[in-house]
Amino acid sequence: MSANEKRQAGEAAIRYVEEGAIVGVGTGSTVAFFIDALADLKDRIQGAVSSSEQSTAHLKRVGIPVLDLNATGRLTLYVDGADECDPHKRLIKGGGAALTREKIIAEASDKFVCIIDSSKQVPLLGKFPLPIEVIPMARSLIGREIVKRGGNPVWRDGVVTDNGNWVIDVHGWQITDPVALENDLNQLPGIVTVGLFARRPADVVLVGDREM
Ligand code: A5P
Repeated sequence: MSANEKRQAGEAAIRYVEEGAIVGVGTGSTVAFFIDALADLKDRIQGAVSSSEQSTAHLKRVGIPVLDLNATGRLTLYVDGADECDPHKRLIKGGGAALTREKIIAEASDKFVCIIDSSKQVPLLGKFPLPIEVIPMARSLIGREIVKRGGNPVWRDGVVTDNGNWVIDVHGWQITDPVALENDLNQLPGIVTVGLFARRPADVVLVGDREM
């Protein structure tokens, strides 16, 4: 992991920000560099839609207005980090437990610019345990469904998401068909969000300051 590459990626994403934009903002240490860089443009944008309480606090601290997605309509740009990225720009996200709001904003945005350091690049997704946000009462049910599919579910004990739910991290899956797995898991009652961004991958991936 390289903090320098994270900083470069966060700063490089600024070139996708257009005058007057409302910018979708993800969560994490790489995004923190983006928010700091975005602060320099705060008088030239309308504001941001935030994916977490953590990013909301940071945005407010640097003076960027935080807007409600219900009031903004579609966004032109979403900038977020990832835990893993494959060569097709499909991602695992949710290491920071913010996956649900991140996925909502990604879906609501025309362009998703993903900012990572080179340690996140993988040929096949799954070495990073796949985060799944679940309704608390469905934790065991979903755990059993994961075992049936060959995964090893580990409850992220003590973590409550911004939406009041729990997170299961799935170890031991080599995800050869991420779209099929995402679609399959999305059918299970009790799963709120799967941390696979394969149906809607990133449009642009910045590894440090270079485009993948
Ligand atoms: C948050 O839930 C995640 O999806 C983050 O985007 C991911 O964990 C990347 O975080 P870092 O930029 O801190 O590595």
